[in-house]
Amino acid sequence: MSKFNEPMFKSQELKDYVIVVTGGGSGLGLAMSKYFSQLGAKVVISSRNIDKLKIVASEMETETGGTVLPVKCDVRNYDEVEAMLQDTLKTFGKVDGLVNNAAGNFISPTERLSAHAFDTIIDIVLKGSKNCTLAFGKHWIQTKQEKATILNIVTTYAFTGSAYVVPSATAKAGVLAMTRSLAVEWAKYGIRTNAIAPGPFPTKGAWDRLLPGDLKDKFDISKKVPLKRVGDHQELANLAAYLMSDYSAYVNGEVITIDGGEWLQGAGEFNMLEAIPKELWDMLETMIRSKNK
Ligand code: HXC
Ligand code: NAP
Repeated sequence: MSKFNEPMFKSQELKDYVIVVTGGGSGLGLAMSKYFSQLGAKVVISSRNIDKLKIVASEMETETGGTVLPVKCDVRNYDEVEAMLQDTLKTFGKVDGLVNNAAGNFISPTERLSAHAFDTIIDIVLKGSKNCTLAFGKHWIQTKQEKATILNIVTTYAFTGSAYVVPSATAKAGVLAMTRSLAVEWAKYGIRTNAIAPGPFPTKGAWDRLLPGDLKDKFDISKKVPLKRVGDHQELANLAAYLMSDYSAYVNGEVITIDGGEWLQGAGEFNMLEAIPKELWDMLETMIRSKNK
């Protein structure tokens, strides 16, 4: 029996933690926030749309019995990020974790993009993650907090690059470099910095912008994955909960890929041999061995 879509921790493993999740009102941010709340954490969910956040926070509180604070914050503006930090401290007295999850993206040939369109994605993803990391990091260092955790949500094309999502790939690669750099620089302050690189996890925000209209049917994305399925939100939430918890206390500067093997499928030189039917291998082996003589 498969367990990947079940909650991994069974008890209140994040009790008394305070965790801020940017973009926590939808998609993967919501899945992580909800699970943190189920595990006893006090959660701050933030994004640009406060009406949406208020509804989500109230639903989450009913479902998990936890405390969830919705905060309006456009991560592109440092002042708003600073205000989100102050709201968190005013309400909960401290903060233990930051998940840089907010993102913007759409597909486009790069030469069709205006300079402003390119900037918009860089500003949300790279500048937004930088703003939050800098504000929260300064706070933790100044107050000499014993330990804290930053978790950055990147993508597998942060390593490989990807055509048609160039601003996003550029920005996510920057976030990955920031992850690895600060893991070393801020470890002395008790701050761990890690990243998750998800493969395809269907969400409305991503799918409507990356596979609009009938592209969804045209490109069955699960076929690109060696495990032949897309990700389940709970399995990503499980990984995030582990990385935010003390069980991962020695994991620092790591980027954990959760993609069913998708990006490696596109990379291995001979991966195309997957298409060869089993019955052909006897003949191919004979042909190859004949070359040994
Ligand atoms: C070309 C576009 C465009 C498009 C917007 N623009 N959409 N250009 N093609 N499809 C241009 C606009 O014309 C404008 O430039 C500039 O981008 C800013 O657009 P606004 O609409 O004013 O920006 P804003 O309201 O800030 O909205 C940001 C957004 C939007 C990124 C454009 O899509 C958004 O709010 N996204 C948030 C959620 C999201 O994207 N989720 C997906 C994450 S998936 P000009 O020059 O005209 O002013 C992900 C990885 C998935 O990150 C990996 C899957 C495997
Ligand atoms: P999503 O639901 O669209 O999430 C993006 C979130 O970011 C939204 O809640 C949005 O809320 C928020 N946001 C956007 N711009 C913002 C801004 N300027 N300031 C603050 N918040 C902002 O998409 P998702 O699929 O869950 O993506 C979540 C994360 O996973 C992203 O980092 C994405 O790159 C990553 N990822 C997703 C996949 C996937 O397959 N889904 C794969 C790889 C990586 P508002 O609109 O209310 O502001």
